[in-house]
Amino acid sequence: MKRQPLRLAIMEATRILDDAGVSSPRTDAELIAAHVLGVERGRLPLVPLVDSPVVDAIGQLVAQRAKRVPLQHLTGWAAMGGITLDVGPGVFVPRPETELLLEWGLKLLRGREYPVVVDLCTGSGALALAVAHAKADAVVYAVDIDSQALAWARHNADARVAAGDTPIRLYSGDIGDPTIFAELDGLVDLVLCNPPYVPPGTAVPPEVSQHDPAHAVFAQEGGLAVIRHAIALSARLLRPGGGLAIEHDDTHGTAVPTLLSARRVLSSVEAHQDLAGRPRFVTARRG
Ligand SMILES: C[S@@+](CC[C@H](N)C(=O)[O-])C[C@H]1O[C@@H](n2cnc3c(N)ncnc32)[C@H](O)[C@@H]1O
Repeated sequence: MKRQPLRLAIMEATRILDDAGVSSPRTDAELIAAHVLGVERGRLPLVPLVDSPVVDAIGQLVAQRAKRVPLQHLTGWAAMGGITLDVGPGVFVPRPETELLLEWGLKLLRGREYPVVVDLCTGSGALALAVAHAKADAVVYAVDIDSQALAWARHNADARVAAGDTPIRLYSGDIGDPTIFAELDGLVDLVLCNPPYVPPGTAVPPEVSQHDPAHAVFAQEGGLAVIRHAIALSARLLRPGGGLAIEHDDTHGTAVPTLLSARRVLSSVEAHQDLAGRPRFVTARRG
């Protein structure tokens, strides 16, 4: 069988993805090649030549990526903190920018024993499971309104327990329900929330419009409806000294801090940017 240079297959894949408007064509081409070969991306230079079935398999995935199927749906996983989550149709793909919110939360938990943590709008379980992995004594609750997302979260939670992490408590519910988590009132050390927050009508890339569930991306009231629920619920759940972090749309860098500042029980409201320097999440403490 004739062997071919992997470098050429990656160059061709990069060209196809670039033509299709994929924003990081070289990275995606390399990650697809690494996935097909079953190696880490950093080890690709150690594979100079590949068989033609490998080139074909790369070509098939590249063709799907060129149709703007998310890379993570093709590889089947996404990363958060120290773990990977299985993802696919029916669940929001965790994004790198949410790592910053996780980092802030994990810092707040340092030195706290058996902290109670709540992940509102958990999706694949990304934030809840990343916290349970990083802080084994944390008692982690997570909730989502969507049964498909919860099925992915349950699957991921089972996999994390099999890998040795502490189990999380996963709930089906609407964070706008005024009775939700009533048993945790005033007991929570940390609330993390990456809710749907994009204002309806905002143009989003095909990966998002065609593959992320719409109710995971868009929210009514100009993108603020679910954030308002998250703020009201956090104010009720947090214990004195507890903290919350909520991700938001980059157009809400003033609106969300203002909503938090309006809550008398919350203090130290702080706006944070993402790696691209855009307003991305807000934190606050319960005084
Ligand atoms: C942007 S996704 C975030 C998922 C996950 N936190 C992450 O960072 O990958 C938002 C999630 O919120 C859920 N959701 C939307 N409205 C909700 C509500 N009112 N109550 C609970 N969950 C909700 C959606 O089903 C979706 O899974």
